[in-house]
Amino acid sequence: MRRAIYPGSFDPVTNGHLDIIERGCKLFDEIIIAILVNPEKQALFTIEERCEILREVIDEIDGRSCHLIVESFEGLLVKYAVERDADAIVRGIRAISDYEYELQMALMNRRQEPRIETVFMMSAEAYSYVSSRLVKEVLQLGGTIEGLVPASVEARMRKKYGGYWRPS
Ligand code: PNS
Repeated sequence: MRRAIYPGSFDPVTNGHLDIIERGCKLFDEIIIAILVNPEKQALFTIEERCEILREVIDEIDGRSCHLIVESFEGLLVKYAVERDADAIVRGIRAISDYEYELQMALMNRRQEPRIETVFMMSAEAYSYVSSRLVKEVLQLGGTIEGLVPASVEARMRKKYGGYWRPS
């Protein structure tokens, strides 16, 4: 039984995250999607909302062969990974610019807890420029984010921003 943690802010989950989850499903029997509780970072969605959204959208992943769990965590990631008896931490790499920061984190995590491996997964090219930060910015400024986040996520974002939303 191979268990991985896929940690992140997921504010909100994007199709890039879902692509990584689908890819991770090919390698692991169970993936715990772990949302960091970070009171210092101002978020669009609360932790409870992000958990709810993630649970909703992972239900829509077709034919997945692994067990997916959504939960939140606080504090040191590797400590939480050990508590949850995980073998690995999964992180998505979109472009070389992600690599430096991700490598730093992976090496620091390995130093804290050598038993936990970090697995970098490459997202599909179509999502190589997609980030939660950019989709929030673009939508807020009136741009289109269709195809970059699930439709239900876009609807929730529009509601948060108080914008007009009409299902197509
Ligand atoms: O989606 P994000 O914001 O890029 O995710 C970053 C995350 C949650 C993976 C990272 O901030 C994290 O692991 N935070 C937990 C605290 C911790 O362990 N810090 C040391 C990292 S080396």
